[in-house]
Amino acid sequence: VLLYLHIPFCDSKCHYCAFVSSTHHHHLRDAYTEALLQDLARSLQSAPAIETLYIGGGTPSTLPLSHFERIFSLLEPHLKKCREITIEANPTATKEWLEGMSRFADRISFGVQSFDEEKLRFLGRSHTPRQAIEAVETAAKAGFRRISIDLIYECAVDSVELLGRDIDTALALPIEHISAYSLTIEEGTAFARQPQRRKEDERLAAFVRERIGKRFLQYEASNYGEPSLHNLGYWKLRPYIGVGCGAVGFDGRRRLYAPERIEAYIKDPHVRTVETLSNADLRTEKIFLGLRSCVGVEAGLVDAKKAQILIEAQKLTQKGGRLYATDYFLADELALFLL
Ligand SMILES: C[S@@+](CC[C@H](N)C(=O)[O-])C[C@H]1O[C@@H](n2cnc3c(N)ncnc32)[C@H](O)[C@@H]1O
Ligand code: SF4
Repeated sequence: VLLYLHIPFCDSKCHYCAFVSSTHHHHLRDAYTEALLQDLARSLQSAPAIETLYIGGGTPSTLPLSHFERIFSLLEPHLKKCREITIEANPTATKEWLEGMSRFADRISFGVQSFDEEKLRFLGRSHTPRQAIEAVETAAKAGFRRISIDLIYECAVDSVELLGRDIDTALALPIEHISAYSLTIEEGTAFARQPQRRKEDERLAAFVRERIGKRFLQYEASNYGEPSLHNLGYWKLRPYIGVGCGAVGFDGRRRLYAPERIEAYIKDPHVRTVETLSNADLRTEKIFLGLRSCVGVEAGLVDAKKAQILIEAQKLTQKGGRLYATDYFLADELALFLL
C-alpha cells in the first residue's frame, strides 16, 4: 500500500496556495504529532507492508527532527519492503534538519518555485534564490541521492528569458527530477482576488517543456525526470492510506477524507468522511489520470471508434493494449472526448 502523511504547518502563506496548511498553529505541533501517531497506528493495523511513503504538507520542514524520530520508530516495522520515502521541504530547511532527515528519507522535494528574486516576492515566498540553491546543495551533501524541485510558470511576471534562467539554474544543481506547475488561481487564496496574476500562455508552457525536456523526460503533464514511484501509484489509481489532517485515502472504491481543521483532527484523528465512487466515477478517474501520464489507459475502457479517430489524428498512440496521449498537456481535452 502507499502511505501519505500530511504536515499542516507553514511559516508563511504563499499567495497562490490552497493546500491544508496554517501559519498560526505551531504551538499545536506536539499535540498534532500525538494525534498523527494514533491515527497512523490504527491505519496500519490492517495494512500490509508500505511500498512507498510520501510526507507532504504544508511544510514538513517546520516539524522538528525529534517528532520525525517518533513517527519513524512507529513506521519502521512496516517499511521493510518500502521502495521510496519522499519528504517535502521548504528551502528554508536547516542543515541539521536535512542531515537528520537523510537518515529516514531517500528522496526530497523542495518547493523552489523560482530562482528570481522578484518572482519569489510576487508569489509570496519566504526564501531567497540563494537559499534555494544552498538547500539543494546541502541536501545532496547530506546524502539525498534523489532530489526534486518544484517550479511554477505562467505567472504575470514570466517571460521566456526569466523561465529560461530558472530552468538553467535548476539544471545546474544536483537534481534528478523537476515538477513544473502552471499557476492555478485557487479559491480562498490571496491570488483569488487578483486573477490577472496568472498569464495563460501556451508558448511559455511549450517553452518550459522543451527546455526541461533537454535533460529530463516528461512522464506526466507537470513532471520530468526520474519518476516518483508514489505519484505513479496515484495515477495508476492504486489504494493509498492518508494520515494527518486534510489527508485523503483511497481503498480502491471509497475516498476517505480526514478533517481539515487542525483542532478537529487533534480531537479525534480517526474520523473520516467517506465518498463512495461508482463504476462510472472509477472509469472517469482512470481515463483522466492515465492520459496525463506515462501510465496510459486500458484500451478496453474507451469507445474503440473514438480512440481510432484520435490515433489517426496522432493525438493518441496504442501500445500493448493501452492508449497514451502524445501530448500530456492536451490530456484533459482528450479525456473529455473519450468519456
Ligand atoms: C506542499 S507544496 C511543497 C512544499 C513546501 N510547502 C513549499 O512550498 O516549499 C506543493 C507544491 O505545489 C505547488 N502549488 C501549490 N499551489 C499551486 C498553485 N495554485 N498553482 C501551481 N502550483 C501550485 C507548488 O509548486 C508547491 O511547491
Ligand atoms: S506553497 Fe508550500 S510553503 Fe507555501 S503555503 Fe503552500 S504549502 Fe505552505
